[in-house]
Amino acid sequence: MIYLYLLATVLFVFGIKKLTSVKTCQLGNRISELAMLIAVVTTALVMTKISWPIVIAGLLVGGAIGALIAKRTPTTQMPEMVAALNGFGGVSSALVAMAFLLIDDRLKGEASLWSTGVANAVSTPATVVIGMVTLTGSFVAYFKLSGKKLAHPFAGSQRHMAHAVLGLGCIALGAWMVMTGSHTQMTISTILLALVASVLGALLVLPIGGADMPVVVSLLNSYSGVAGAAAGFVIGNPLLIVVGALVGTSGLILTQIMCKAMNRSLSNVLLGGMGEETVAKDAKDYKSIKSAGPEEIAMLLDGASSVIFVPGYGLAVAQAQHVVRELADLLTKRGANVRYAIHPVAGRMPGHMNVLLAESDVPYDQLWEMERINGDFKNTDVVIVVGANDVVNPAAREATGPIAGMPILDVDQARTVVVIKRSLAPGYAGIKNPLFELDNTLMVFLDAKEALEGIVKEVKELK
Ligand code: TAP
Repeated sequence: MIYLYLLATVLFVFGIKKLTSVKTCQLGNRISELAMLIAVVTTALVMTKISWPIVIAGLLVGGAIGALIAKRTPTTQMPEMVAALNGFGGVSSALVAMAFLLIDDRLKGEASLWSTGVANAVSTPATVVIGMVTLTGSFVAYFKLSGKKLAHPFAGSQRHMAHAVLGLGCIALGAWMVMTGSHTQMTISTILLALVASVLGALLVLPIGGADMPVVVSLLNSYSGVAGAAAGFVIGNPLLIVVGALVGTSGLILTQIMCKAMNRSLSNVLLGGMGEETVAKDAKDYKSIKSAGPEEIAMLLDGASSVIFVPGYGLAVAQAQHVVRELADLLTKRGANVRYAIHPVAGRMPGHMNVLLAESDVPYDQLWEMERINGDFKNTDVVIVVGANDVVNPAAREATGPIAGMPILDVDQARTVVVIKRSLAPGYAGIKNPLFELDNTLMVFLDAKEALEGIVKEVKELK
């Protein structure tokens, strides 16, 4: 069996490696699915007391529900789905640890958890705490991402005090759970520990601005991995330890990448710095805005020999990835050099734009990363910003403000910038974008798909 565990581990690592490129990510998913199947079946084979009908029913029902939810979820709601999956991962680990207390023969009679060894004594309460914090924290993140307004019951120092009291409560209950020799007391302390950790998880995420949720979801993803690894120690399953550690570290690395790309520290995200409070105070403070329609943009493109598309969150909302490709193809046929500039945090999840553009089979050599393309904007005739806002906001170059210091795409240096969005509403950071007021900027106030369809129609009518 150890060889099957080894095979599953290698396949998981290989699957993650394949996920790092758009070309191979689907294969990466398939490999990881196979690894998970091998892991579940091998674990079931290793166990002596097992009900196969329940395992098979679990695989079929769980697999069907997962497949259905994944099929029905639009790409714009991926962060919510990932949040929910993290929560389920966390609670699964917590349940495994709790079940261990019920079925482990060593805990029969008057034996305490401590008597089963230090590894169990530490990992069992840790799994319950981290798993339940992940569950409720993830569901608060899920509801915030869905636009629900949820407030923390306490403010200021009272808030920190409440978190500290709950944290100390977890330590005390964990100690009770580990030291007691009575099975009834062990059950009561475990249930109380799960409840207190659940409240702590929800309260920790409640004060964080809805806008910071993608970073929090990535961090909770890491927690779900840590809970899984801890559960691996509880039941002595090496595969769970390895896979949990993989998820834990990759989630943490992703969290760091996101913070770096937004030029924010993790503590700034967790303690709140750019949250709901900053939303859209000055959206209407614009002067000298020039707007244009699809016909004028088509005429502009008629004379353009270099064009760069800058996709953003609005492209995903409008589902305009196919029509942007159609326009790009038309312009390429007319002799223009067409590329896409990809900002690392455009959209709402890492790789969001790559995934979206891959759906419409945009050639990979046309996708240029920010560092590579930034120097070329000054030699570009037309830049078309499609539903992006913060990632092209020149205010980031200033010393203060919510996005100060965030690296941006230097689209303002192009000869003409066309910005397609529905209104002057701000983006994720909730601030004004001076790009819209520049002399070389033309605004197209339409839904991205509608605007691009209009431009395609007009370009086709050009001689
Ligand atoms: P945003 O700054 O959020 O701007 C998106 C714009 O799209 C909005 O201003 C909106 O304006 C427009 N829009 C929405 N629906 C549209 C539609 N149907 N048609 C046309 N336009 C539409 O997006 P961005 O530039 O991609 O920046 C991403 C932001 O998310 C950054 O601040 C980043 O830090 C943050 N963030 C990203 C991630 C990852 S990993 N990607 C994680 C955490 C945070 P209208 O309403 O006027 O149309």
